[in-house]
Amino acid sequence: MKQELSNQLNQYLADSAVLYIKLHNLHWNVVGPDFKPVHEYLEGLYDTMPEILDEVAEALKMHGETPLASLKDYLAVTDLEELPSKELRSLEILPIVKGDMISMKAEADAIRSEADAEGLYDLVAMMEGHLGGYSKTIWFLESMMK
Ligand SMILES: [Fe+2]
Repeated sequence: MKQELSNQLNQYLADSAVLYIKLHNLHWNVVGPDFKPVHEYLEGLYDTMPEILDEVAEALKMHGETPLASLKDYLAVTDLEELPSKELRSLEILPIVKGDMISMKAEADAIRSEADAEGLYDLVAMMEGHLGGYSKTIWFLESMMK
């Protein structure tokens, strides 16, 4: 694997870890009349993240690379912006989550293309699975904001 792909995968790993915590922040701190569905929906989203995190880290190991494995490392490379630990209304939360999902989808898409160019089809398949998940999540979020 080329260095750039290894870096892209570690970036994606770091962003997944930060998003996992950020989604908990929003799950805990959402307020408003639609508290219950948004609170529960965010739980459904963060419940998918540990598998993504583990899969990406193990893929790096399988290809002889070193996955980042500390919160300090993740914070050093993440592109995601964390939020303060405070209450937010759902209409503020949903666009933030949508933006993060669009950014994760773009990263997965770029990794998929690079892995394809290098003939690493296990990574292509993994990213295609993730891309389908992000597309569905973005559709849900857009529908919730209409
Ligand atoms: Fe919870």
